[in-house]
Amino acid sequence: MKQLVEVMFSAANIKNRINQMAKEIVEHYKLLKDDLVLIGILKGSFIFLADLCRKINIPHKIDFMTVSSYENGIISTHNVKIINDLREDVRDKHLLIVEDIIDSGYTLKQLYNILESRAPKSIAICTLLNKPSRREVEVPVSWTGYSIQDEFVVGYGIDYAQQYRYLPYIGHFVILDD
Ligand code: IMP
Ligand code: MG
Repeated sequence: MKQLVEVMFSAANIKNRINQMAKEIVEHYKLLKDDLVLIGILKGSFIFLADLCRKINIPHKIDFMTVSSYENGIISTHNVKIINDLREDVRDKHLLIVEDIIDSGYTLKQLYNILESRAPKSIAICTLLNKPSRREVEVPVSWTGYSIQDEFVVGYGIDYAQQYRYLPYIGHFVILDD
């Protein structure tokens, strides 16, 4: 048996989609007077953010947060732990959270609440991938690259056991019989 990653969204397809998303984002934020800050959620969003920010041709800052989600073994609550926090104060800034993929929604929901408590001027979410059928808690998503079925994906920053992030495309695993 061989396992390989089958392409779902090619590098060229992703590039086009990000161009479209960036245009909409610029349209939304272009008249702002206050700072716009893109907040990349590490590690998954690092490639997406790198490509997206180079198409957002209005002034903005970039910051990162590293979070890890874990499930409480006894009660089925999900908790987000901040491993690395933002460098700068976000009070009175316009925040755009840049995420790789939304599944249950717990990660972003909690992150959203944490950031909201720091009194920014606005918060919006931009995600490359979204699995709406997996949602357990609602999160307000303003920009989505692709909505997909309930399947596990890798590539373009997204990992399986820390591998596959380097793939230039997004794909899913298929098993081949020899
Ligand atoms: P949520 O809190 O359930 O929405 O989880 C979102 C996080 O789970 C993402 O930021 C990813 O790190 C991870 N994740 C969800 N679906 C996938 C997938 O298909 N492949 C790899 N990681 C995933
Ligand atoms: Mg993530």
